[in-house]
Amino acid sequence: MTQPAREQLEAFLHDGDRAIWSTAALVLALQDAASEEQHAAAHAVLEASGLDGVASLGADEAGGLAAQAAAPVHQVAGLLRGEGQMWAAQSDEALIAQGRASARGAAGFAEFGLPMLAGLGEAFADGARMLDVGTGVGAMAVAYAQLFPHLTVVGIDVLPRVLALAAQTVAASSVGDRVILREQDVSSLDETETYAFAWVPAPFLPASALAAGVPRVGNSLRVGGWLMLGHGKYGGSAVNDAVGRFKTIAYGGTALNDEEAEEMLRSAGLVEVRTVPTPHGSPAISVGRRPPAA
Ligand SMILES: C[S@@+](CC[C@H](N)C(=O)[O-])C[C@H]1O[C@@H](n2cnc3c(N)ncnc32)[C@H](O)[C@@H]1O
Repeated sequence: MTQPAREQLEAFLHDGDRAIWSTAALVLALQDAASEEQHAAAHAVLEASGLDGVASLGADEAGGLAAQAAAPVHQVAGLLRGEGQMWAAQSDEALIAQGRASARGAAGFAEFGLPMLAGLGEAFADGARMLDVGTGVGAMAVAYAQLFPHLTVVGIDVLPRVLALAAQTVAASSVGDRVILREQDVSSLDETETYAFAWVPAPFLPASALAAGVPRVGNSLRVGGWLMLGHGKYGGSAVNDAVGRFKTIAYGGTALNDEEAEEMLRSAGLVEVRTVPTPHGSPAISVGRRPPAA
């Protein structure tokens, strides 16, 4: 190895070490579990990083943030230990924190997504059904039902454990009568003409389930209904793109770019296919619409 290459590797290792320990400091600073000495040292890291404001967070927010920060650390530890099922291997708290983060997308959808999808606002006001594929802990399903008071959301997932958490989320919400949970693999969906809107998150679905599932989800739409396919946002820095793809593959999901996502929607017979702009930090989203029968 040349000297410049060795120096580059050293810098890479140093940056990685600092990032992982800074994340650990954030988690410990937000939790009560650490010793007083560890707490103080962890806070010093945050202060030096300009993040001392987290000390003033409320207990709920601090707990959620700690779980969110710890999740990738636990995930990579599981990956390096050779454990499969990275999503399911997380603690309940981490799953719930991630669910909360994905639920925030519902408000963004109401503001920016819905007005872009012809006819959907009217359908939502008129007692439509939405399909939430990979509903996880149900936080996003509940958020949609709360935002749209005439909408019924059907959430499907393959994991009984996350569905049990979802059932708790739904029971504790004010929209329990409009959120239906079902243990089902998207690749076995056999409903037709049912949904005005369906959400499919490619980064969390294995390639075989996605390939089999998207045409079935397309078929489950009512005429004029929309399928929204979440996928990777690539085209930034080469490192960000590669890390994004690596994470998706490690999760057992499917890394699609805009063109691949659009092609998948077109192959499912959908029309008006396009990739819509999304805010920084959100996944890329491609949409397609069920045409009238020929
Ligand atoms: C990131 S989570 C969804 C988070 C969710 N929006 C929330 O509020 O918690 C993705 C989910 O997809 C589920 N999943 C994976 N493969 C699936 C399949 N073939 N069919 C249905 N769900 C699947 C996983 O079990 C996981 O719970």
